[in-house]
Amino acid sequence: MSEVLTRPVSEQVASSAHISASKYDEMYRQSVEQPQAFWTEQANSFLQWDKPFTQVVEEDLNRGHCAWFADGQLNVTVNCIDRHLPQRANQTAIIWEGDDPADSETITYQQLSDEVNRLANALRERGIKKGDRVCIYMPMIPQAAYAMLACARVGAVHSVVFGGFSPDALNNRILDSDCTLVITADEGVRGGRTIPLKQNVDKALATCPNVHSVLVVKRTGGDIGWHADRDIWYHELVDKQSTECAPESMGAEDPLFILYTSGSTGKPKGVLHTTGGYLLMAAMSFKYTFDYKEGDIFWCTADVGWVTGHSYIVYGPLANGAVTLMFEGVPTYPDASRCWQVIDKHQVNTFYTAPTAIRALMGMGDHHVTNSDRSSLKLLGSVGEPINPEAWEWYYSVVGDGRCPIVDTWWQTETGAHMITPLPGAHNLKPGCATKPFFGVQPVLLDEKGEEIEGAGEGALAMKASWPSMIRSVYGDHQRMVDTYFSTFKGYYFTGDGARRDADGDYWITGRIDDVLNVSGHRLGTAEIESAIVLHPATAEAAVVGYPHDIKGQGIYCYVMLKEGFEPSEELRKELIAMCNTEIGPIAKPDVIQWAPGLPKTRSGKIMRRILRKIACNELDNLGDTSTLADPSVVDTLIEHRANK
Ligand code: WTA
Repeated sequence: MSEVLTRPVSEQVASSAHISASKYDEMYRQSVEQPQAFWTEQANSFLQWDKPFTQVVEEDLNRGHCAWFADGQLNVTVNCIDRHLPQRANQTAIIWEGDDPADSETITYQQLSDEVNRLANALRERGIKKGDRVCIYMPMIPQAAYAMLACARVGAVHSVVFGGFSPDALNNRILDSDCTLVITADEGVRGGRTIPLKQNVDKALATCPNVHSVLVVKRTGGDIGWHADRDIWYHELVDKQSTECAPESMGAEDPLFILYTSGSTGKPKGVLHTTGGYLLMAAMSFKYTFDYKEGDIFWCTADVGWVTGHSYIVYGPLANGAVTLMFEGVPTYPDASRCWQVIDKHQVNTFYTAPTAIRALMGMGDHHVTNSDRSSLKLLGSVGEPINPEAWEWYYSVVGDGRCPIVDTWWQTETGAHMITPLPGAHNLKPGCATKPFFGVQPVLLDEKGEEIEGAGEGALAMKASWPSMIRSVYGDHQRMVDTYFSTFKGYYFTGDGARRDADGDYWITGRIDDVLNVSGHRLGTAEIESAIVLHPATAEAAVVGYPHDIKGQGIYCYVMLKEGFEPSEELRKELIAMCNTEIGPIAKPDVIQWAPGLPKTRSGKIMRRILRKIACNELDNLGDTSTLADPSVVDTLIEHRANK
């Protein structure tokens, strides 16, 4: 390992931060030693309850169970909107920056309240009530946030599907959670191009008989198809509604949303989050990790289709009465200086993005950054994948001019909020290191036998206690949640990631140790991509692995075995790529397809992915034991014809 260049906490940051080093130690200790007292205080200071809770936590990780604040009641939108109105009616809640640099808009808390209540009334008019599922398939426009919040207002469970997913992927998700209403837009706009969202919805709904209403936001006015018995213009339905809407009082453990994410096996899972615990952790982590101060302008570049957008564009910032910036476009349009121009234009104080974006921008030259001012910036954040020290250094010294701490936040869709991250006033920063657990989070490293590793070491990253925003279920298949997260190591939540703990007790995430890829910060299951490829009539079998990719973090490497009578060709390669596009979306586009006459299998027929991974990564010296293979010569052929990346 090369030497680590630690950046000590800056005195200036520490002196004004919410959490100093000693405060962290004291609060962390209390959070794990006296969780009842700690969480009672936090839940009462961060949230407004309709009915106070008397129970804090009840858990049994052996069966994946936890319940937080279970007898309390609250409504998320009262917490994110109503309670701020006395002081903040005219304060900006959302700054919207359009794809076109000439388009931007600000939405005050009062306007947000009016918009959300109108839409909530519209949902009720269309028959949506507590517990119903609503699918949101939207571009990055304020109506996406209104839609999420309007669902929360009436107690409906939203399922946001990333606008980059294909009609088939959308169809699967709508059916899986039995959504009855879809909110979308005519078209999305990104990087100067339009995305046919409504057309995708039309295709997806061909086999969704239970969807009775589709609300369509007019974003571009482009030509779209129309089903008069089902489709309604958003503005026609919403504009006539009252701006008053009684919030549904929800139990803390009532569902707030479902968000689909990829795992190592089978189809994507509908991760279910509930109301009280989720909102508390989103709110608390937003304030402490980003050291949010009154008036700060916060920009998270994620899409609302991912958990980062849920927790750090919508719920965390709004629960704190903050100003959150929502960006419709991409970092490279009209050119690679867009992010820094947006920062100057809106005087952004905190910028939170993914390593893949940092690496891509780093490759385009410093001048795109240095010709901007960026003096408003106070803090930088990273999320979604391990950040390599080189990208970290560039982010720190070029983007942040060496004066902004970087919070490298490790967490997951299933965890709802930050789990391991430095707090800027408390922790020394090490490039590429996620450092310390957030309050109440109790990480452990486990060896192959499932024993906890003490002190410095490396192992499987797991949690030995629940935290308020822990996944509660996989929608429609609770057992699948128990099997996926709570069975590998009995009594622990298993993250799927590996990690190393150094002599200072700091955590370094080493990446997934299951069959999940992280491509440009997007989670993809190898099984999903394989299923898409084998749908093609020419494919007999496919095996997908990841390999290191300079920009994307990981690239998608597919070994494809054709059926008798089919020959490899460029055309076939394109067809297989198109298959992934149709089944999943452009994010699942294979980088490499290697035609394989055979796949390395054990005598019992199990594909030895370990070997395929090594070949894809060009790690040929150390292929490990191949003697258990049914036909070891397969490996030599694959090595000989491996792709030159
Ligand atoms: C990875 C995104 C290293 C990790 C919030 C995790 C990270 C998966 C980091 C979850 C980080 C996320 N450092 N790896 N700071 N943040 N990951 O569900 O492998 O889309 O398991 O949630 O991303 O991805 P998800």
